[in-house]
Parts: sequence; structure tokens; C-alpha cells
Amino acid sequence: MLLHVPEVLNADELAQCRRRLAQAPWGDGRVTAGHQSALAKHNLQLPEGCAETEELGALVEAALARNTTFFAGALPRHIFPPLFNCYRGGQSFGMHIDNAIRYDRRGDTSVPVRTDLSATLFLNDPEEYDGGDLVIDDTYGSHTVKLAAGDMILYPASSLHRVEPVTRGERVAAFFWIQSLVRDEAQRRLLLELDISIQSLGQANAPQADVLRLTGVYHNLLRAWSAT
Ligand code: NI
Repeated sequence: MLLHVPEVLNADELAQCRRRLAQAPWGDGRVTAGHQSALAKHNLQLPEGCAETEELGALVEAALARNTTFFAGALPRHIFPPLFNCYRGGQSFGMHIDNAIRYDRRGDTSVPVRTDLSATLFLNDPEEYDGGDLVIDDTYGSHTVKLAAGDMILYPASSLHRVEPVTRGERVAAFFWIQSLVRDEAQRRLLLELDISIQSLGQANAPQADVLRLTGVYHNLLRAWSAT
């Protein structure tokens, strides 16, 4: 399932990101690629642990913490600290699959994070560049994604995906991975659909006892399917 999460960042936050990223120490994106994907990856990336990555990563994480759509769709257990990339001058990232495990090295220990979901948060508008589409293959076919600045796409990290060459301007984005409380994608999808249905029944003044019973079903399914 692909989930479009609109307006993760507001205009002020986007302006702050762009101001900081314009001065940032961009390096070769292959430093975080696995052996196979390094062959396909041609972009710029901010080093992990540099001041801009940490400051803007905290900004993105704070925005995610207040976003109910993100929470309902991802059911996050662990969010890998956001990274930032830039494609320009024909740069692209050929078809690849993301590493299954990433290590969160904040703090004293290195915590393994299983990448259930991949996220791309677009930081500039589609009119500012040509190309740069994120193309995701899943069992339903091939999906092309190019979103407004501040919007985010969540997709299964198990999908093959690529970024088309950027032939004009530059494409700047944050990207990161999420380990979900619910590993199984089909179960996550059922929970999201149930969650959305319960909320709309609540707004439609459905009988309270029915809403309550369905809410119980939601939580008991989450209890059954989650791993903490
Ligand atoms: Ni990737």
C-alpha cells in the first residue's frame, strides 16, 4: 500500500529546511547504500550526524509526532533518523531495494531498525524540476510519485523502486525508514481501513455502542498483531 500523507511540514518549516540545506555540506549519496544499490545510486546526500542533518531531522520527527495520518498508517515503533538527499544535473537512483536492517547510532548503542516502511518527504515543488519521479513497483504494478513540497509518501520497504533522472533544477527530499509495531503489511492496511471507518462513523453520529464495539475490535487486533 502506498500512503500519501499531505502537509507534513508547514510553510515555515519548509522555508527553514530550504534555508539550511542551501548552505549544507552535501556529499556523495553512496555512503549509505548497500553494495548492490551503490552501483545504481547517483545523488548527493547530507552526512549522517552533521549539524544540518540533526537539526532538520529533529524538525521532521517533531512534525511526524503530530501527524495522525502518519501514525495511523505506519503504527511506528522506531523511526530511523531522517536523512536528506538532492538530485540535479541528470542524477538518478536506478531500480533497487532498501536494506532490511539499518542501525540507529544515536546515543551510546547501535539499535537495529527493521525497515518495514520507506518514506520520502518532498522538500520542493514539482514545478521546480523536471524528472525526479519516484517509481515504485508492487504487486499492483508500477506507481509514479511526485508530490508537493511538504507532502510525504509511505511505501513498503520491500518494494523495488527508483528515482528518475533530474534533468532540470534540483529535487530535494528527506528520506527515512520506519519499523512498524505491525510487521505485516496486509494487517497494517486492515487496521488503517478500520481506523478510518471508525472515525467516519463517529462523525456520522452512528450508534455509540456500535462505534465502541468496533473500537474494541481495532484495539484487540492491534494487541494481537503488534510486537513491542
Ligand atoms: Ni531506496
